Amino acid sequence: SANKDFKGKKVLITSGPTQEAIDPVRFISNHSSGKMGAAIADAFASRGAEVHLILGVGAKKPKHSSIKIYPVKSASEMYQAASNIHSQMDICVFAAAVADYAPKEIAAEKIKKEGEGMTIELVKNVDIAYTLGKAKKFDQIHVGFALETENEVFHAKQKLEKKNFDLIVLNSMKEKGAGFQLDTNKVSMFFEDGSSLQSEVLPKEEIANLILEGIKKLPVKI
Ligand code: PMT
Repeated sequence: SANKDFKGKKVLITSGPTQEAIDPVRFISNHSSGKMGAAIADAFASRGAEVHLILGVGAKKPKHSSIKIYPVKSASEMYQAASNIHSQMDICVFAAAVADYAPKEIAAEKIKKEGEGMTIELVKNVDIAYTLGKAKKFDQIHVGFALETENEVFHAKQKLEKKNFDLIVLNSMKEKGAGFQLDTNKVSMFFEDGSSLQSEVLPKEEIANLILEGIKKLPVKI
C-alpha cells in the first residue's frame, strides 16, 4: 500500500514460538513459524509505522529492513524485551505463541536415559499480554490473538476481556487453511465494543492488512 496511514506510530509485535529449556540440548516449544507476525510487521512498515518485532527462535523474519528485531528464546526473555519498550509504543500486537509453562529447573547437564519413565515439573510462565495489558495506558492499543481448538468464540471473548485487548484475532485449528505454519489464515476479529468481523481463507499478508483495517475501526484515543 502506498498509503502511509500508520506514519508516526510505534508498533510492538511479538511473533513466533518460545523455547523453554529442559537441559542444554532439549526444550519445550510449539509449531509457530512466525509467518503471521512477519506479515503484520511488514504491513505496518509498508504503511509507515516504526516497527519493533520481538522474535522467537527460528521465526520468519520480515522483508522490510527498517524493522527493528529483538531475538529471544524463552517466554521470560520475550517478556523482558517487550516490557523494556512497551511504555513508548502506540500499538502492540501479540502474535507470538508463548509457552504457558516452563520446566521448574533447567538441568545443567544433558539428562541421562535412566528408568522406564520420567517427570518434568513445570511452572507457569509470565503471561506477556496479560501483564502488559495491566500497564496499558489510555492511548495505547493492544491487539491479541487466540488460537483455539474448541469453544473458539467463547474462549476468544474471554481472553479479550481478561487480557485487556481492544481487539482479538481468533484463528481456529479446526478451520482448513488457518493457523500454524501455513501461508494462509482464516480469522474472526472481536472488538471491545462487541462487534465482530470474519475473513475468508486469505494469504497471511492480506490477513495482516485486514487486522490493520480493524485497528483503524477502533475508537480514536486522544
Ligand atoms: O506463526 P504462524 O505459524 O504463522 O502461526 C500464527 C499463530 C497461529 C501462532 C498466530 O496466528 C496466533 O494465533 N498466535 C497466538 C497463539 C497463542 O498462543 O494463542 P493463545 O490463545 O494461547 O494466547 C492468547 C494471547 O495471549 C496471544 O495474543 C498470545 O500471544 C498471548 N500470550 C499467551 C501466553 C503468554 N504466556 N503470553 C502471552 O502474551
